[in-house]
Amino acid sequence: VKRVTTHILQKMKADGEKISMLTAYDYSMAGIFDDAGIDVVLVGDSASNVMAGHETTLPITLDQMIYHASSVVRAIKRAFIVVDLPFGSYQGNSKEALSSAIRIMKETGAHGIKIEGGEEIIESVKRIISSGVPVMGHLGLTPQSIYKFGTYAVRATEEAEAQKLLQDAVLLQNAGCFAIVLEKIPALLAKKVAETVQIPIIGIGAGKYVDGQVLVMHDMLGINKEFKPRFLRRYLNLYEDILNATQQYITDVKSRDFPSENEQY
Ligand code: KIV
Ligand code: NA
Repeated sequence: VKRVTTHILQKMKADGEKISMLTAYDYSMAGIFDDAGIDVVLVGDSASNVMAGHETTLPITLDQMIYHASSVVRAIKRAFIVVDLPFGSYQGNSKEALSSAIRIMKETGAHGIKIEGGEEIIESVKRIISSGVPVMGHLGLTPQSIYKFGTYAVRATEEAEAQKLLQDAVLLQNAGCFAIVLEKIPALLAKKVAETVQIPIIGIGAGKYVDGQVLVMHDMLGINKEFKPRFLRRYLNLYEDILNATQQYITDVKSRDFPSENEQY
């Protein structure tokens, strides 16, 4: 199989072919997504929420991200694999950002990294890119800044924040980012960004006028029972399916139905 590259992603934008992206955190799920033909797999720091059960993405460590990412990399033959730099591993200074990115690349075999923010982190972005590591930007609702925002509500609904977001997107492009994720912003602003920059814009809650879409695996598979934002489309109701299967298993064990004679040696 031919591997997805940043070059291919750029061509997909030019050709008007939408880019599909999902998060994954482990070998087994990542292998299914790759077999299905997903273009990009993101080892998101949302692992902090959906894998580890933290309330925010802030607690997850670089070592933990490396564990998830190396598991994902072992499963994937085709997709482009991006890994989030976690909170605290790149904001301090660009040298620290570079060494975090290098650890990810060396210890996992992933193909690129993603960091949250625009102008504030542009030196880090440039330094990582100059080392040869592809960087994906992330603007809009950037969950590592949740305590600054105070809410998970839609971002950039006011003109000033919208203007800054557009400027940040241009800055990230000029710094050499190969793509940008826009999270939870008005569709028309995301459209403007996608039309202004030449690099692919991947949306989550950013509407239909962008170059691709990303969802968190647990959300699109319906594993999260309560998380139902407007932007989410659920393709399965795995919470129900797994609950029912588990209850059936318990019933079968208690009733001595499992194992049967055919299921023993
Ligand atoms: O960590 C994550 O899952 C993400 C996506 C929501 C883009 O950053
Ligand atoms: Na993330």
